[in-house]
Amino acid sequence: MSVTVLHHALINHKLTNIRRKETNTRDFYQNVNEIAGLLAYEVSKDFPLVDVEIETPICKTKQHVLGCEVVIVPILRAGLGMVDGIRNLIPTAKVGFIGLYRNEETLEPVEYYAKFPDNIKDENTIVLVVDPMLATGGSAVAAIDMIKKRGAKKIRFCCLVAAPIGIETLQKAHPDVDIYACAVDEKLNEVGYIVPGLGDCGDRLFGTK
Ligand code: PRP
Ligand code: URA
Repeated sequence: MSVTVLHHALINHKLTNIRRKETNTRDFYQNVNEIAGLLAYEVSKDFPLVDVEIETPICKTKQHVLGCEVVIVPILRAGLGMVDGIRNLIPTAKVGFIGLYRNEETLEPVEYYAKFPDNIKDENTIVLVVDPMLATGGSAVAAIDMIKKRGAKKIRFCCLVAAPIGIETLQKAHPDVDIYACAVDEKLNEVGYIVPGLGDCGDRLFGTK
């Protein structure tokens, strides 16, 4: 399916803010949320609409409202940093959670938590799996495996910074999932970090380390 790399002056500017090593925890979190909001605007632009008849103070009129349910699934921890920004735009979205961390030696994802709203399996639900970083792709592939097992059908993966290998791995494992990224960086380094990247996103968001 498709890979969309967003090109927007505000996204580029805010990405530079979070890439700077001197950006503090508060500013890092705020910028991640703001970028997530801009990303939500792009990801939702083709969401289905249904007709409704309403009454303005002037007359009756046929208008449109969202014709789908939305479930946001952050991959813990770093994905949590994107949730508020998306919920600001889509306040009716429900939120599920997947706890995964990368084993620092093998880089393999390890699952430690899962909780989803019931409507994740509904035909008209669009699931936004969110994680700022798509590095090897292992965490995204494992997270999407987990939500497909719960019956999710329409899935979009949203990240801030992707490595080419992560995109390739995710596309191979889940060709039906559309990928949205704010930037595609050069490569991974020898310990699996994205280059130039922004460092350890979870630690920078939550002030650990
Ligand atoms: C980071 C990031 C992704 C994962 C990406 O999480 O938030 O979930 O690494 O790497 P991958 O594509 O190689 O799997 P991390 O494991 O550091 O956990 P944390 O969010 O709890 O810090
Ligand atoms: N996880 C991160 O937080 N940063 C990276 O560069 C790669 C994985």
